[in-house]
Amino acid sequence: MNFFLGIDTSTTSSKALLIDENGNVVAVTSNPHTLQMPRPLWSEQDPREWWKATSASIRSVLEKAGIGGERVAAVGLTGQMHGLVLLDDDGNVLRPAILWNDQRAQVQCDEIHRRIGREKFIQITGNVALTGFTAPKILWVKENEPAVFAKAKHMLLPKDYVRYKLTGEYAMDKADGAGTVLFDLKARHWSDEVLSALDIPRTWMPETYEGTEITSCVTEEAALLTGLKAGTPIVAGGGDQATGAVGVGAVEPGIVGLTVGTSGVVFATTPSALIEPEGRLHAFCHAVPGMWHFMGVMLSAAGSLQWYRDTLAPNMSFDDLLMEAETSPAESEGLQFLPYLSGERTPHPDPLARGAFIGLTLRHSRAHMTRAVLEGVTFGLKDSFTLIQNTGLGNITQVRASGGGVKSPLWRQIMATVLNVELVTVNTTEGGAYGAALLAGVGMGAWGDVAAACKACIQVTGSTHPNPSEVEAYQRAYDLYRALYPALKASFEKMGQTS
Ligand code: XUL
Repeated sequence: MNFFLGIDTSTTSSKALLIDENGNVVAVTSNPHTLQMPRPLWSEQDPREWWKATSASIRSVLEKAGIGGERVAAVGLTGQMHGLVLLDDDGNVLRPAILWNDQRAQVQCDEIHRRIGREKFIQITGNVALTGFTAPKILWVKENEPAVFAKAKHMLLPKDYVRYKLTGEYAMDKADGAGTVLFDLKARHWSDEVLSALDIPRTWMPETYEGTEITSCVTEEAALLTGLKAGTPIVAGGGDQATGAVGVGAVEPGIVGLTVGTSGVVFATTPSALIEPEGRLHAFCHAVPGMWHFMGVMLSAAGSLQWYRDTLAPNMSFDDLLMEAETSPAESEGLQFLPYLSGERTPHPDPLARGAFIGLTLRHSRAHMTRAVLEGVTFGLKDSFTLIQNTGLGNITQVRASGGGVKSPLWRQIMATVLNVELVTVNTTEGGAYGAALLAGVGMGAWGDVAAACKACIQVTGSTHPNPSEVEAYQRAYDLYRALYPALKASFEKMGQTS
């Protein structure tokens, strides 16, 4: 029996996950990353740390599974999207990577829209320029670190730096390529028009591939470090959201992926390069060859609950906290929580947006506050869900939920009722790394295509239906929630100027 390896270069760790030819998970290991926040709004990591952690994870996953590297038929890569890695002519790292959650480049986003025209930019790339994306980060380096910019010869994303260390090749998948917003979405390759308008050298851009295509093979040097066999093929893979969707089987229109991790993502596959005319949804290439997807991203989903617990109830377990929240009625007796703790992306692309509890009275207890956090995050997800429904994509037949947040039955029930849709969970819980391993399997012909791989390996394990008696109350609370950000936007902006 052969094995396929998925590698996930996430913000928190480098994970290695081994599956067999039937899609069963055989072993998983991970090694943590450190995160630097040297200034407010900045978020950086040292790419060399990713490689060190990845090679250690690969060695230990092989050991854990008790197999030699020659049994791994192919490797698929995934990782945090959008992070800017700049390399010199010899492939040396020039500065720490500027990550997806770094918010420093708002001025550069405005400049991109000014130079190209906001509408035209949306037409070409499918997106507005946001601080999270890669293109504005490149302009920031150009303006603020011209010596680094002058030495740069290659631009990569996090998992593609790992690919470079594994294979010596500069290559990228099309899903992550689109997430740079330097891509022509429809054509599925670099946009010469955008690159030249932004004065970013075309020569920096790597070759791009579909998710299941082999980009290159493991070198002798990387084989020695990882225990893989030299010559092992590496498939393109995809950014974590696209491979995460593969990992839960959200690969056809109608099946929407809902991920409630630190961030919250609503993901819908599209059969052509559809765009939301105002660019409020991200529109990228899928890791499924020839497909695209919409995506709404909220920056602090389960991250809001984590912050709340760590700050206000550090001695309580999540289970106890959530059990207590069940004693609060739906709508939390008029208490609202705004989840914009790290600014926001969808539907309010605003690095200065802030979190808030609104509507506190003497009657409110911790149970109400916890429930308000769950409800507020879910309302944020509904914002993206509604935008996707309004694109005319067609019926949403199923929502496949994953991530730490959906472990809670209470939260799952709130989500099903607020979104007013059936929510299902699946047997695969390893997210992007699992999807990347499936892409490697498809690349080697273990399954006919990505949809066939998902069908063979992913089963629905649970289902939550909306609670009809609470649908109306939640609609009322959601209408209130929607009015709060517009009412507070100017105040958030002022707060941002003074702190
Ligand atoms: C997606 C995004 C995040 C990162 C986190 O657009 O920015 O999901 O990929 O890993």
